[in-house]
Amino acid sequence: NFTPNAFVEEIVAEMQEKIGDDKVVLGLSGGVDSTVAAVLLHKAIGKNLYCIFVNNGLLRKNEFESVLEQYKGMGLNVKGVDASARFLGELAGIEDPETKRKTIGRVFIEVFDAESHLLEGVKFLAQGTIYPDVIESVSVKGPSATIKSHHNVGGLPDFMKLKVVEPLRMLFKDEVRRVGATLGISAALLGRHPFPGPGLSIRILGDITPEKVRILQEVDYIFIEGLKSHGLYDKVWQAGAILLPVNSVGVMGDERTYEKVVALRAVESTDGMTADWVHLPYEFLMTISNEIINKVKGVNRVVYDISSKPPATIEWE
Ligand code: XMP
Repeated sequence: NFTPNAFVEEIVAEMQEKIGDDKVVLGLSGGVDSTVAAVLLHKAIGKNLYCIFVNNGLLRKNEFESVLEQYKGMGLNVKGVDASARFLGELAGIEDPETKRKTIGRVFIEVFDAESHLLEGVKFLAQGTIYPDVIESVSVKGPSATIKSHHNVGGLPDFMKLKVVEPLRMLFKDEVRRVGATLGISAALLGRHPFPGPGLSIRILGDITPEKVRILQEVDYIFIEGLKSHGLYDKVWQAGAILLPVNSVGVMGDERTYEKVVALRAVESTDGMTADWVHLPYEFLMTISNEIINKVKGVNRVVYDISSKPPATIEWE
């Protein structure tokens, strides 16, 4: 019988006791968990919480700017670090999915370490770890997992020598959302679809270029905004677009075109371990497909992914 208000009161007192007047650094991702953890800690220790939000250049269209604005609006002490060029530079030419993930994890750690180094006297690293991450820590993905898997390696970055605080480590996802609502975080932010740490990099099959990122951001934006305006966003657990490494023939006016193919994916799931493709209405798919092909230069064909997990996975890489 979980009561968010009682939890907030208890954990705020516990964090104040544990942290005292020390400084804490936290990496925001734009997702639900890190946001709720930040707002909770902000309530406990105010300006002694220093948040860092890294743009890896693989976020959704406008996401870095708009989420950073939202964070500032919540009163968080947040620094936005635009490391897009660095990430895209390091990713250039890499085709293998696991190498992409490792590269992004490594660069994230380097950027985060350099940033936290600029903050003097920080004693704690806060993380938005939730209970399922704790029990499945071997299979957790994303920056926090990369941090964990590097724990036993010599020569740790400075921020890893910090003591860790994880205010959400006893909570399930739905409890995190209820705590977030109690704290006044907007329903739009709390209802956001999951988004992988490596971002669009694992939805661009093959090598990544700034131009491919631009194309995929435009396609993804049309798809996600379309889901919202057609009242479908909240009926879907996760959705996104995938840029395929193939060109197909099309015709535009009198001209033959030879351009990129994108796939759309929308799934229903409870935890991401299994998933079914969503039976999106044909009318909706038709509208979105037309809009993508008409508006996004470089794309002349749209397909819809009708595979379930297992045996397919949610992401294509
Ligand atoms: P798959 O593709 O394994 O995805 O069916 C299951 C869920 O995990 C997300 N995902 C990731 N999240 N780092 C993350 O933070 C990753 O490397 C990663 N790979 C997949 C995926 O978006 C889905 O929600």
